[in-house]
Amino acid sequence: MKVVVVGASSGLGRCIAVGLGERGARVALMARRKERLADAAAEAGPGALAIPCDVTDEESCKTAIGAAAGELGGIDALVYATGVGPLVRLADTDAATWRRVFDTNVIGASLTTAAALPHLVASQGTAAYLSSISASHTPPWPGLGAYAVSKAALDKLVEAWRAEHPQIGFTRVTVGDCAGGEGDAMTGFNAGWDMDLMTEVAPIWLAREYIAGALLEVDELVRALDNLLRCGPSASIPSIAVVPRRPA
Ligand SMILES: NC(=O)c1ccc[n+]([C@@H]2O[C@H](COP(=O)([O-])OP(=O)(O)OC[C@H]3O[C@@H](n4cnc5c(N)ncnc54)[C@H](OP(=O)(O)O)[C@@H]3O)[C@@H](O)[C@H]2O)c1
Repeated sequence: MKVVVVGASSGLGRCIAVGLGERGARVALMARRKERLADAAAEAGPGALAIPCDVTDEESCKTAIGAAAGELGGIDALVYATGVGPLVRLADTDAATWRRVFDTNVIGASLTTAAALPHLVASQGTAAYLSSISASHTPPWPGLGAYAVSKAALDKLVEAWRAEHPQIGFTRVTVGDCAGGEGDAMTGFNAGWDMDLMTEVAPIWLAREYIAGALLEVDELVRALDNLLRCGPSASIPSIAVVPRRPA
């Protein structure tokens, strides 16, 4: 299986790319940080590729996906794990922040999908997009409003792609709280968060039970994705959710 993982330099995307590589897939890893990508590719197996890509740049998406398809000899699956989630109240969210969040979480997902489309059509392949419980399972979390709105848009984007290309398996992968792995595989999602704001909003997330009080083991997410990508072209799996069990 030939798989492209976008957002593979850290956190969940890195764990997914390495985990799929360990399970026998040939993986092309994409993100902006080249050294981290190279390290992750080395872990993902001898045939793994590290391909720099900035999803906010259309040409970069086309070039990177083209390089991946050329080197892998096609694409059977695309996993879009790229995402940013600035912690900021909506009243303080400026236009540049809104644009960065949408460029990265929504538009980049569509641009990489468009670039991969001919290859996914040829393989009758799968495209999976990491979304968040904060866009569908819970109300938007205070402080992560722009993020939740972008993930809701991503959820609709997945449906829109499926409507135009039903021969491809488009799947929304809703994920609960997950720290990722260790070292570079740990989530960098909260890097740069304002800790003062965090101490204000985190108790609200807890009190409203948006947070389960437990973390998802990233291996379970990798296993779920491996199963998803192994489904043949007769199956459509529009949505899966992988969330931590609440403690008793
Ligand atoms: N961790 C959680 O609890 C959780 C829960 C639900 C959903 N998710 C979703 O899971 C995904 C991964 O999250 P994570 O926790 O693993 O975060 P992370 O460690 O910050 O990973 C984000 C990845 O996105 C890449 N990225 C960011 N901007 C990019 C750009 N312009 N072009 C290309 N790549 C870019 C980063 O690489 P570079 O900076 O090197 O480009 C990195 O590889 C996100 O979509 C997130 O919304 C996470």
